[in-house]
Order: sequence, then C-alpha cells, then structure tokens
Amino acid sequence: MKKLFTPLSIRNIEIKNRVVMSPMCMFIAGDAKVNDFHIMHYASRALAQVGLIVIEATSISPEGRISDNDLGIWDDSFIAGLKILNEKMHTYGAKTCIQLGHAGRKALNSMPSVAPSAIAFNETSKIPHELSIDEVKEIIKKFIASAKRAIDAGFDCLELHAAHGYLINQFLSPLTNKRTDEYGGSIENRVSFLKEIILGIREFYDGVLFVRISATDYDENGMHTSDYIKIFNDEEIKSNIDLIDVSTGGILEIKPPNIFEGYQVQFSEEIKNNTNIPTGAVGLLGDYNFASNVLEKNQADLIFLGRPLLTDPHWVMNAAKQMGEKIEMPKVYERGYL
Ligand SMILES: Cc1cc2nc3c(=O)[nH]c(=O)nc-3n(C[C@H](O)[C@H](O)[C@H](O)COP(=O)(O)O)c2cc1C
Repeated sequence: MKKLFTPLSIRNIEIKNRVVMSPMCMFIAGDAKVNDFHIMHYASRALAQVGLIVIEATSISPEGRISDNDLGIWDDSFIAGLKILNEKMHTYGAKTCIQLGHAGRKALNSMPSVAPSAIAFNETSKIPHELSIDEVKEIIKKFIASAKRAIDAGFDCLELHAAHGYLINQFLSPLTNKRTDEYGGSIENRVSFLKEIILGIREFYDGVLFVRISATDYDENGMHTSDYIKIFNDEEIKSNIDLIDVSTGGILEIKPPNIFEGYQVQFSEEIKNNTNIPTGAVGLLGDYNFASNVLEKNQADLIFLGRPLLTDPHWVMNAAKQMGEKIEMPKVYERGYL
C-alpha cells in the first residue's frame, strides 16, 4: 500500500493516514467562538477520511487575532464549543489538532497591535507597541494557558504557529526582532520566546506537539533553513517537539521568487534529514501522485493540504480510488467507491 494511506504513530496517537488538513482561517467566528459552520466544515473533512485535522489559527489573546472574525481560546468560555467540535470530528475517526497563534504586528483586528519591535509590517498596517519584558512573559503564559484549554477541549495534538510572519516568527527573525534584551540579538535569545512556550507546555502535557515554521524569510538578512536546523538541534527543543510543519515566507510583504508544484518540499526534506525530527510538507501538493511520491521519497512524514481540501473535500477517498488503493470508507459512502 502507498505510504499515503498507511497510519503514522506519534507518541500516544495513531493517525490513520498521512493526509492532514492544513490550518486555514475561515474568518467567520464573529464572537471568536465555534459556530455551526466550523462544525460542518471540519466534521465533513473527518467524514471524508482526512487523517488529522488542524483547526485554523486560534488566538491566545484578543489582540492576537488576525481579523475580528478569528477563533479564540483566551479564556475558559471557549472550551465548550471546541469540545463539541472535537467530538464531531472524532466521530468519524479523525485525529484533531489546534493551531495556537498570535498575529503580532500582522493583526488586522480593531485593537492596537504588539510585536517584539515597533516596526510596522507595511505602510497600511498599524505601528505595533513594542512589548516590555513583563508583557513578553505575559504572552508566553497566555500561550501556555491556551494549550491547557485546548487539551481540556479534547484535541489530540497542539501546533504552535511560528510561521508566516506572525508573533513567534517575529521574535525568531532578525528582520523584525531588534530587541537588545534577553529576547533579542543572538539566535539563542530570539528563540527563547518559542522555547519558553514549548517548555511551559511540557510541564503538564506529554501529548503530541507540532511547530509550524517558515523555513526561509526569502531575504538575505532574515531566517534561513540552516538557522532552523540549528534551533531544532537544541536538545531541549528537539526532545519536546514531535513534528515540524514546514512552510515558508510571510515575515515580509514579498512573494517566494519561484512558486511551483511542491516548492516547499525541499525545505521539509532538508530539515528532516538534518534534525531527525519528522516533518510535514505543505504547499501545492494537490496532485494525488505528486503528494504520494513526497512520502515515498521520504521527503516528509505527513502531507498538509490547504486549498485542495477546500475544492476537493473528498481528496483522500478520490486519491485512493484513482490510485487503486482500498481504504476504510464510511459505510454510508461505500457504494460511491465500489
Ligand atoms: C483560506 C486560507 C487560510 C489560511 N489560514 C492559515 C492559518 O490559519 N494558519 C496557517 O498556518 N496557514 C494558513 N494558511 C496556509 C495554509 O495552511 C497552507 O500552508 C497554504 O495554503 C499552502 O498549502 P496549499 O497549497 O495546500 O493550499 C491559509 C491558507 C488559506 C488558503
């Protein structure tokens, strides 16, 4: 059987196949809470046999939302809705994950924005308030408290959003972090924001923890894949992370110089080979055979699909049918795939 359809065991969970729904903000949570749309949207992908569903970037504090319509998890009132969402996805055998995020200077919501340094993202965005050390520590605590809530809500996995130029990425990148205190300067200092979040979560959590990164800033003076290889070879980080979800870009308002099918897979492969940590590949992987080959060539352990699962929700079942593989189907759909 093609690897695409084989299970993957990580720590205490088994994901039934290698297809992951990549986190995608739906910008439809007016009060930051789960509503009928979220339940229908995510549970239908579970019914369609996606192995792991990563819920969209969910903000750990109100000012951290990208828009005013993002999901939130900054107090206990959010747990009940997320719990129902989990139950619905679990009904169909998917494993579930939530992406915990904070937009930092890229927040487009109605509140003032914050960042490691007071540098705006572009001409139209707000100039962020530069966080004091106490405020940095408060945000770290909020990430950790949000992780606790996510566990209480029944997620099988947590993903920290350290990619796409959002707050954790802003601490990591020298382009956005000009601090002269313990959270800025050397790469060790710049990574301490992420590291303290990881270690704080590990004080009470021994489940699956992913980190999504942007393996390159596409700028000579920014973060490079070699920097991430160094970061993830730090024993304290390495031993506490189960998978690196490898994306790119977003810290600056520039496009990758070259976009082609699977253009980010090379970064997944390089990081996987140089850290020995499992990776997820993402970006233009919608072609069934192409995605399958990424796994066969050992360039990644999981395939994250974003847009392909919006337009082809039954991607897993359709891929299996086209590739002549027999996978477990929901009984109600079996006749469509005979
Ligand atoms: C509508 C939409 C919303 C997205 N929201 C998020 C998000 O919340 N968190 C994140 O890390 N990436 C987000 N992304 C990026 C996707 O997870 C994915 O990395 C990207 O779309 C490339 O994969 P694809 O070619 O399979 O779509 C979003 C993408 C789309 C299209």
